[in-house]
Amino acid sequence: MMSTGHLDDKADPFDLFRSWYDEARDSSLSFPNAMSLSTVRPGGSPASRMVLLSSFDSRGFVFHTNYESAKGMEIAAFPRAALLFWWEPLNRQVRIEGAVERTAPEESVAYFARRPRGSQIGAWASEQSRPLPSRKTLEVRAREIEARHKDVLVPRPPHWGGYRVIPSAFEFWTGREDRLHDRLRYDRTPAGWASVRLYP
Ligand SMILES: Cc1cc2nc3c(=O)[nH]c(=O)nc-3n(C[C@H](O)[C@H](O)[C@H](O)COP(=O)(O)O)c2cc1C
Repeated sequence: MMSTGHLDDKADPFDLFRSWYDEARDSSLSFPNAMSLSTVRPGGSPASRMVLLSSFDSRGFVFHTNYESAKGMEIAAFPRAALLFWWEPLNRQVRIEGAVERTAPEESVAYFARRPRGSQIGAWASEQSRPLPSRKTLEVRAREIEARHKDVLVPRPPHWGGYRVIPSAFEFWTGREDRLHDRLRYDRTPAGWASVRLYP
């Protein structure tokens, strides 16, 4: 039904997200799962960076990172975030806002186990967001961790795992001719999702 490329009203924003995400994955994009994650710094300034969407379902949108990184500290202090996708070949944007919680440790263990070994070692080697004296320091740390785990599985670092953004609002945007773009916002209400069209 999405073949027109225009915004199709759907009752459930997760269904609409699924349909757009499937099309983004079928497009020429190398990283359709790349998304901007915005958190709030102590003091109230916003902070954004890219992360990769690991998975999503009706509970929310999961990404993985270092819990002791800047973003991890910001989420611990103020557990809310905004996600942003821009799928250029489709001329589509999706905004998501909501509360953030850690995924269950067993989910992080399972996800970590499926990562390439180099990424597993990298997760141990990086004190993400802390000052690093030199590139060499990082490379030496990675080599030491590699040597310590020769012929054994690399376990998940306790400071590494998933976060789930639980949407309270979505906004779907499709670019259309003459700047008469489509925008559809969904807000979670006690009675379910309420949708409204917005002027572009
Ligand atoms: C396309 C792209 C994907 C990224 N994916 C992740 C990711 O999934 N997890 C992560 O921790 N950092 C990821 N990064 C790095 C982050 O943008 C960021 O530099 C890092 O997480 C430290 O952010 P912080 O200091 O705000 O915590 C990615 C960067 C890019 C450009």
